[in-house]
Amino acid sequence: MSDNVKRRDFLGMALGGVAAVGAVASLYAVKRTWDPLPSVVSAGFTTVDLSGLQEGHLSTVEWRGKPVYILKKQSGSQKVEGRDFEINGALYTVGIQICTHLGCIPGFDEKTQGFLCACHGGRFNASGVNQPGTPPPRPMEIPPFKIDGMKMVLGEEGAEYQALKKA
Ligand code: FES
Repeated sequence: MSDNVKRRDFLGMALGGVAAVGAVASLYAVKRTWDPLPSVVSAGFTTVDLSGLQEGHLSTVEWRGKPVYILKKQSGSQKVEGRDFEINGALYTVGIQICTHLGCIPGFDEKTQGFLCACHGGRFNASGVNQPGTPPPRPMEIPPFKIDGMKMVLGEEGAEYQALKKA
């Protein structure tokens, strides 16, 4: 399957069941934030090379048909327990980029380092935690992952993932 086909599938998923106005905004948000990293997919696992990530710049990969964002947080950022983990002293965060309100794909604003869901105005911070007073009821889900050097294997439960679940 080509990248373009995969992207169209995502857009179909993102647009299904949302109102027309929200759909256009959502489409725009997806285009702005879609920035694939080098990744290899095999048997339900997606292996992503994190070495090229730039601070504060969101990247999105596909894992089992879902968009997963990965962010290297800006230096000086506060560590959010249960959401962020460290590799070589730098903070990273990962989540399934699907709004926990009604399933749209929130866009990431690099200026504010936060997510905005265009469908109903939901907001999440850089670590994927929902902002109280906006529609999403909980943080974006964290996919199982394993860190192996500067590689992330999505679909496998490693020590960093276990630690986040315990926090
Ligand atoms: S689907 Fe995201 S705010 Fe409603």
